[in-house]
Amino acid sequence: MTESFQYAGATVEIVDAGTILAAARVNPVELLRRATFPSPVRRAELTVSSADTPEGPMHVFAAEIGTTVNDLPHKERIRAVVLGNDPVGILLAKRIAAGDPIATRIVDGVGTAAVAAYRKLGLDRPVTSAEPETGYLADAAGGLQATMTHDPAAGVLRLRAEVPRDEVQPEHLAAMVRLVLQAVVELLPPSTEPLTGRRYVVSRETIPRVATTTQEVTLDQVGGLAPVVAELRQIAVSFRHPEAMARWGARRPQGILMYGPPGTGKTMLSRALANEIGADFREIRTPEILDKWLGGSERNIKQVFRDARRYRVPTLILFDEFDSIISYAGSGGDAASQAINAVAGIFKQEMNDLIEANPNVIVVATTNFPHRVDDSLIRSGRFDVKLSIPKPDEASRAEIFRKMIAQLAAAHEEPGFTMFADGLDMAELGRLSHGMTGADIKEVLRRVQLTKAMQDARTGGMVEPISQQDLRESVAELLGQH
Ligand SMILES: Nc1ncnc2c1ncn2[C@@H]1O[C@H](COP(=O)(O)OP(=O)(O)O)[C@@H](O)[C@H]1O
Ligand SMILES: [Mg+2]
Repeated sequence: MTESFQYAGATVEIVDAGTILAAARVNPVELLRRATFPSPVRRAELTVSSADTPEGPMHVFAAEIGTTVNDLPHKERIRAVVLGNDPVGILLAKRIAAGDPIATRIVDGVGTAAVAAYRKLGLDRPVTSAEPETGYLADAAGGLQATMTHDPAAGVLRLRAEVPRDEVQPEHLAAMVRLVLQAVVELLPPSTEPLTGRRYVVSRETIPRVATTTQEVTLDQVGGLAPVVAELRQIAVSFRHPEAMARWGARRPQGILMYGPPGTGKTMLSRALANEIGADFREIRTPEILDKWLGGSERNIKQVFRDARRYRVPTLILFDEFDSIISYAGSGGDAASQAINAVAGIFKQEMNDLIEANPNVIVVATTNFPHRVDDSLIRSGRFDVKLSIPKPDEASRAEIFRKMIAQLAAAHEEPGFTMFADGLDMAELGRLSHGMTGADIKEVLRRVQLTKAMQDARTGGMVEPISQQDLRESVAELLGQH
């Protein structure tokens, strides 16, 4: 079912709002990813997801609007903001000029953008805080109100609205789309119908999935790392049998720290462990949320743990690439270090009694920088299992090749189509791929697959299966680039 309406000259079509809202209960649904807007708006992306809050389960509508100014290097961006060329600053200035009390409230908090906006208006008001400040946008028809935050550090405008899960309606989605477009329009140069002739389709994008990239990663697919895999199987057993643990007064591990070079399988092992336990998998990706944390850092990490205490089904929480938080942030006095220290402090404190508070939860953290890990995390028992994930040795590399190739063949070979030649020599590949990680080996195979597929496309199927020589060459090529 498609609903359509006009906004600022554009035609907006919402495809199956009901399905979008239902899907968002399970996984975040990303919308408007490919939409284009007039300059200087470069993107306006909308994500619908679901969250457990103290007020109950909510549908969360979150939009992020970026402008071309964001493409500039950081310094240049600051310059643009300070000089008043920042489109968001101009938006605020326009709103203040129009006597908008909300914009005034926003500007009171936005630091450099505020300085610029005030300067433009010939005002001279002290700016008190560089914290992102919140204002509101409201859609009367849909009855939806979104908070609007300008994050000068990230150079984006964010909109966010929440609707209780049992009240959410397709009309809320339409209202949120109108609010996003309203914010976009305000960022554009003045014009009566700035989006004339444009068409925005709001629908779940169907991304083709390849069988080998499903989340169903299992410990069997891991090559090498036998002791680590054995230990994770033990942990899964202890997790699945709380009654046995209780009977003997034993305590299962509550936190697992995995450290080792990039590409060695830490994320893969975490997913495989969740599968082995039969647990839900929640991934908290530090690099993606860190800039959020620098703004509302403490609030956000607290929310993660507040959610964690409420999971009613077994859940593995992965803090992936948790480097800056599990390592010493040092005693830097700058705002960033302080925020990281605050987050690290809350993280440690919350980890203290998380498992007592909710036996359904197990926490895994990974880092690529083992030498920087804060010892107090391990000494205190917050991470009672510490696993080193080294680069694979020759035998392990051979095993990774064997497992990956077997998996690809299982996924793609069918009667009349042979993907790999017979008699491949895994031991030789293990030897030749000296220094490679599992991720590198995956790349070796990806390149061979691509070459074959391109030949296939050009010749209409006259392609030999992947041979030992093809693999040797791909290994050599990747090594040559290192
Ligand atoms: N030991 C391994 N066995 C099988 N595959 C591996 C192994 N290590 C890495 N890989 C492959 O490389 C990919 C990337 O590894 P990843 O888990 O993201 O590494 P890390 O998190 O340590 O950087 C995995 O999805 C997997 O396909
Ligand atoms: Mg990883």
